[in-house]
Amino acid sequence: MEKKDLGVLINTFDNAAGEALGKREGHTPKIEAPDKVKADEGVTIKVSVGPHPNTVEHSIRWLEVYFYEEGRAFNPVVLAKVSFNAPTTDPDITLKVKFSKSGVIHALEYCNLHGLWSGKKEINVG
Ligand SMILES: [Fe+2]
Repeated sequence: MEKKDLGVLINTFDNAAGEALGKREGHTPKIEAPDKVKADEGVTIKVSVGPHPNTVEHSIRWLEVYFYEEGRAFNPVVLAKVSFNAPTTDPDITLKVKFSKSGVIHALEYCNLHGLWSGKKEINVG
């Protein structure tokens, strides 16, 4: 069996290929956040996945949100880790975050049938 690094196993909207091509709309995390914010001012960001089935047999099981902060020695910083209980909870979360430096918000989700998917959004602090 071929060994692969974890990063190679994460699908994105742009790298999806083969069977994953038809799955990207429903699996790539969507990040809603302002393009520009003031330093250390709390801003609301929203991360969601779907439209996607939300059944015990097929659902988004968890979502993690990270921040790549410009100039930081070790990245990323974890902003949130949330598990979902289908069919009761939907993969749709809202966070209040204070950013002190510009960077990139990354979201990673796991679908029990279709694997790991990530999405990202740049945020400028100034
Ligand atoms: Fe799926």
